[in-house]
Amino acid sequence: MQQTRQRHRVVLLPLPLQGHINPMLQLANILHSHGFSITIILHTSFPSPNPSNYPHFTFLSFPDGLSQSEASTTDLLSLILLLNLRCINPFRDCLVRLISDAEEEDPVACLISDAILHFAGPVADCRKLSRLVLRTGGVSSYAAFAAFPTLFEKGYFPVQDSRLEEPISELPPLRVKDLPVIKTSNFDSYYQFLTDMVRQNKASSGLIFNSFEELEQPALATLCPDFHIPIFPIGPFHRYFPASSSSLLTHDETSIPWLKTQAPKSVLYVSIGSIAAMDEKEFLEAAWGLANSKQPFLWVVRPGSVRGRKWLESLPNGFIEMLGGRGHIVNWAPQQDVLAHPAVGAFWTHNGWNSTLESICEGVPMICMPRFTDQLVNARYVSHVWGVGVQLENGLERGDIERAIRGLMVEKEGKEIRERMLHLKEKVNLCVMQGGSSHESLQRLISHISSF
Ligand code: UDX
Repeated sequence: MQQTRQRHRVVLLPLPLQGHINPMLQLANILHSHGFSITIILHTSFPSPNPSNYPHFTFLSFPDGLSQSEASTTDLLSLILLLNLRCINPFRDCLVRLISDAEEEDPVACLISDAILHFAGPVADCRKLSRLVLRTGGVSSYAAFAAFPTLFEKGYFPVQDSRLEEPISELPPLRVKDLPVIKTSNFDSYYQFLTDMVRQNKASSGLIFNSFEELEQPALATLCPDFHIPIFPIGPFHRYFPASSSSLLTHDETSIPWLKTQAPKSVLYVSIGSIAAMDEKEFLEAAWGLANSKQPFLWVVRPGSVRGRKWLESLPNGFIEMLGGRGHIVNWAPQQDVLAHPAVGAFWTHNGWNSTLESICEGVPMICMPRFTDQLVNARYVSHVWGVGVQLENGLERGDIERAIRGLMVEKEGKEIRERMLHLKEKVNLCVMQGGSSHESLQRLISHISSF
């Protein structure tokens, strides 16, 4: 612990969604372990992590101006637009109070805000507070977001069904169908949001990524000439602080005991993260694909993730009994512990960035089923650049699913993928060690914050 820095307070503003809160709190832990005091700013209308898991942090909340129904919408784009509009004034008031209260004994060094909450940029600038940005997703998908104006000029948007397989020469190896878009009737708003986000991120004092150089060097090289600010790829964050105590949902306690009853590398872990959903037909195809594969599986079915249904009621009568204990279905799992368990042999994922990175860290090969935005880019990189997974390219169909599972986990064809994944896992272990690329970037980040 470096006492001289103890008086530097870092204020962190996460986007109030699970996939963003986890890495922001992990980053807060990393900075705290290097002597910084930490304040986390939470939104009042959203579920928040349990502050008692973080007695070493100060938590503040501000009224974000969203109603409960606005905050719980499943329309991600409208949620993000609303947050960037409504939070400006209340966040400014919160920041003014915080700076003046802290000034005497514990001055604020800087704000670190989620890249998506770009409204925080001008607010911090007005208070003359240095601001860094945390992009919780990968660098490759961010490079694709940053290229939207060029792609727009070249006529790729709005995406046309007839061009889905076309390669994008400006962003190899992406095809049109891998572009990080979201289903919306309001593409103009999405485009405007992304260009505002990238502009405000570029105007910050530095951009932090939960990624590492060895994984995303080409994307980092693409970004650097265009971003005249320091870039800090210091991930994977959870390598520094493995236990995740920032879950917004209660972790099921039967997952690990069940895994203990299974053979090494035999279990397929299945999860589509904290936001994505599927319709009933897709859910049933997934269920039959899993059952027919004959592999044991641990399946997270988040309540509400099957559209129009509460939980498992769409499964045919007798389905679970038919599995004879080969399948275990839970609401929400302790994912990092699950992926680290020796019984887990593969991960069928939506490729949210945290899930992708957590899988890489544990050397678990993936079956990719991206749903929207950065997930589409991540899946393409997993399957075609890093070669550590296969992608379900044609929607959800039980025969394809069964073949993908057996191909990856049992058949010879999956052997090379499994080996590449173990090789990549070794690189992760090295990058966070003394002299490793992320370790070095973290030292740069600490000096940078200490210079404010
Ligand atoms: C969202 C976006 O959908 C994604 O595109 C973006 O990259 C990050 O934010 P999300 O659905 O939350 O992603 O998935 P992901 O990024 O994978 O994060 C989910 C987090 O929840 C992970 O840290 C994972 O460990 C955790 N988790 C997931 C659990 O603890 N238990 C579970 O059962 C499932």
